[in-house]
Amino acid sequence: MIIIIDFGSQYNQLIARRVREHKVFCQIEPPTLTVEKVKSLAPDGIILSGGPASIYSENSPKIDPELLNLGIPVLGICYGLQFMVHTQGGKVERADKREYGLAMFHPKEAAGLFEGVPEATECWMSHGDSIKELPEGFVITGSTDNTKVAAIAHKKKKLFGLQFHPEVTHTPKGKRMLKNFLFNVCDCKRNWTMKSFVKEAVDEIKEAAGDDKVILGLSGGVDSSVAAVLIHKAIGKNLYPIFVDNGLLRKGEADRLKEVFTQNLNMKVRYAKASRKFLSGLKGVTDPEKKRKIIGKVFMDVFEEEAKKIKGAKFLAQGTLYPDIIESVSAFGGPSAVIKSHHNVGGLPKKMKLKLIEPLKYLFKDEVRLLGEELGLPGDMVWRQPFPGPGLAIRVIGEVTAKRLSILREVDALIIEEIRKNDYYRKLWQSFGVLLPIKSVGVMGDQRTYENIIAIRAVTSTDAMTADWARLPHDMLAVMSNRIINEINGVNRVVYDISSKPPSTIEWE
Ligand code: XMP
Repeated sequence: MIIIIDFGSQYNQLIARRVREHKVFCQIEPPTLTVEKVKSLAPDGIILSGGPASIYSENSPKIDPELLNLGIPVLGICYGLQFMVHTQGGKVERADKREYGLAMFHPKEAAGLFEGVPEATECWMSHGDSIKELPEGFVITGSTDNTKVAAIAHKKKKLFGLQFHPEVTHTPKGKRMLKNFLFNVCDCKRNWTMKSFVKEAVDEIKEAAGDDKVILGLSGGVDSSVAAVLIHKAIGKNLYPIFVDNGLLRKGEADRLKEVFTQNLNMKVRYAKASRKFLSGLKGVTDPEKKRKIIGKVFMDVFEEEAKKIKGAKFLAQGTLYPDIIESVSAFGGPSAVIKSHHNVGGLPKKMKLKLIEPLKYLFKDEVRLLGEELGLPGDMVWRQPFPGPGLAIRVIGEVTAKRLSILREVDALIIEEIRKNDYYRKLWQSFGVLLPIKSVGVMGDQRTYENIIAIRAVTSTDAMTADWARLPHDMLAVMSNRIINEINGVNRVVYDISSKPPSTIEWE
């Protein structure tokens, strides 16, 4: 396995992805990682990430320099390289301005880290300080036209450094360099597969849970569904999934959930029908954050009530993913501003004295999907587009009523039907309808109408942090618009949302 030390680079997750693409397991750790922990993890190699700091700034992140003397191969990227040079006795020069953008990289050798890398290849630079003097024993292994020390190595100590970012797509041969580090330098084994993950995870869950009961909030989304199947495989009937039907779901969703989990997978799911409670809580509320708070609160109440019925439960299982926990350990990635509050069952463990089981906490979303397939979950569940916890309530702009929910539910089903028919479902991050709080004038037959407006929203994205509006074919949009207006009572106008994130967000609320 590989340890990636997080010096605060926004690209850390990308490094992890690149490593795992080669079926090598890796873990991102904070700079406070101790030598003892490294020894106990026994990694095949360590990658020091980039980061926004200068090694001269007061609070620059540092690792125990002893980590570079353990005989474990180390690759320093950008700030990681500078840290390596600085602590090994070289000189890093402070720069007033950053070098940012594409540069032409020329490796000095065609083996080791640079096997298969051509004599000239583009690389992505983004750094302030640069290397002035190499520490003893290090040699320059590559330069760019502007940066003489773009790559260095101390082969005996197995220490390597790159001033540019091999993990980003702007460095086309960067993938190859990372692969070379894994297999030419570190001698990693390709043993990180979903099959091996299932086996290990099942053993771990069995050991952690013993004969105790585990509660799980099943939402029908990919993460909680996969977590449920995995835990069920480990502890069978001791898993108690709770599904809260908040009445804010898409058409047919609750039934499909029953079919898959209760009938096909033989799980004892507890269904808490609570749509009335949610609707009455939302009565008269139009503010998006208020909606979320109310939905979060009612959810907690209903879930807790259900959970209390499971006597003697000791654990709460959650489908937490790796990106969620990386953010909380990151050296510099402190909490970002709250744009929209997302709710979960965070308060429950404390209240009910439950311990957490989070079997997906080292996985990325696409790995969770592969895991779902490995565990035999049906395709429509595994490849489901993300759906927000507060459901259709934040897509009914303005007040949420049963009538308005029902209009949007029909519209949503129709949009998804067309998207699937045209083979766009998996190409899009999300696609859905939004019911606007204004009405517009139309004409149907010879009659004037004054009805609702639907906005269609479809975006492409890889992580929801940024998103681009999808360039859906006009003909497809035309069919959707026609069908919505003709088939769904109460709508006489359809618009298409052509805004990207940022500055807009994916959802309208
Ligand atoms: P935005 O609208 O912020 O959404 O661009 C980013 C992603 O988060 C989802 N989303 C939510 N998910 N509770 C959730 O569980 C929420 O309150 C919530 N708000 C937005 C959104 O669907 C998108 O995938």
